[in-house]
Amino acid sequence: MNAVYEKLQRCYESMQEKTDFKPLIAVVLGSGLGGFAEDIQIETIVEYRDLPDFPVSTVEGHKGRFIFGYVEKVPVVIMQGRVHYYEGYDMTDVVLPIRLMKMMGAKALILTNAAGGVNDEFDAGDLMMITDQISTFVPSPLIGPNLEKLGERFCDMTGIYNDRFQDIFRRIARTLEIDLKEGVYVQLSGPNFESPQEIKMCRILGADAVGMSTACEAVAAKHMGMKTCGISCITNPGAGITMKPLSHEEVQETADKVAPVFKALLKEGIIKIAEL
Ligand code: 6GU
Repeated sequence: MNAVYEKLQRCYESMQEKTDFKPLIAVVLGSGLGGFAEDIQIETIVEYRDLPDFPVSTVEGHKGRFIFGYVEKVPVVIMQGRVHYYEGYDMTDVVLPIRLMKMMGAKALILTNAAGGVNDEFDAGDLMMITDQISTFVPSPLIGPNLEKLGERFCDMTGIYNDRFQDIFRRIARTLEIDLKEGVYVQLSGPNFESPQEIKMCRILGADAVGMSTACEAVAAKHMGMKTCGISCITNPGAGITMKPLSHEEVQETADKVAPVFKALLKEGIIKIAEL
């Protein structure tokens, strides 16, 4: 048996000892966006550190727990905090939580993150729905023996961000009068922010937002046939767009400011996606 799958199986079994909750929708909350989880009707909380073998985040401001509960009537699992590739984990560990949530029953995945603006028409505080991604600057989480139980070796990335989910978010944004931007997300390894020239490179490649997560998770989800959508909170312009140095504090501050709008969009998104 494959070591990656065995670890996943062990995490699944230790999770089953704690809860048999069956989520319909899985949500990953990015930096500074964790507050959403506290507004839901919480059933159970499982700390990452209480699951043997589970990768635990070391970043300040990233909580590390699964929150199981209901948004209206919709059963959800919400990750408050994720682990990042830059922490030194193998990509298979980085995407283990996504695979675990699928094994628990989640049919759909909503990925969120804090990201830098690459598109110079974006302002700090904008929300961007991810329409496609560039993941090739970080190793694929599918490297290594293929996990046949999960998906196929050479899996297709067309429609990695589900079209119907995108339509749902467009409609919600219109109804709630949210100026929801759209664009391509590029994942770089971090932990350093990009140089001005690297941001220019991202722009030339067609990216609109840059971050250190999400794309690898979307790849793992697509591999398993999990329908995915993504929302980036543009917390700051990428380097070189303004002269202001980038900081993690700015990321947190902007995320806090956008929180009410972000929460409203996400809540409606969950409800509407569950109706599909
Ligand atoms: Cl400018 N870059 C990256 N890689 N991640 C970010 C960011 C920038 N701003 C927030 N997260």
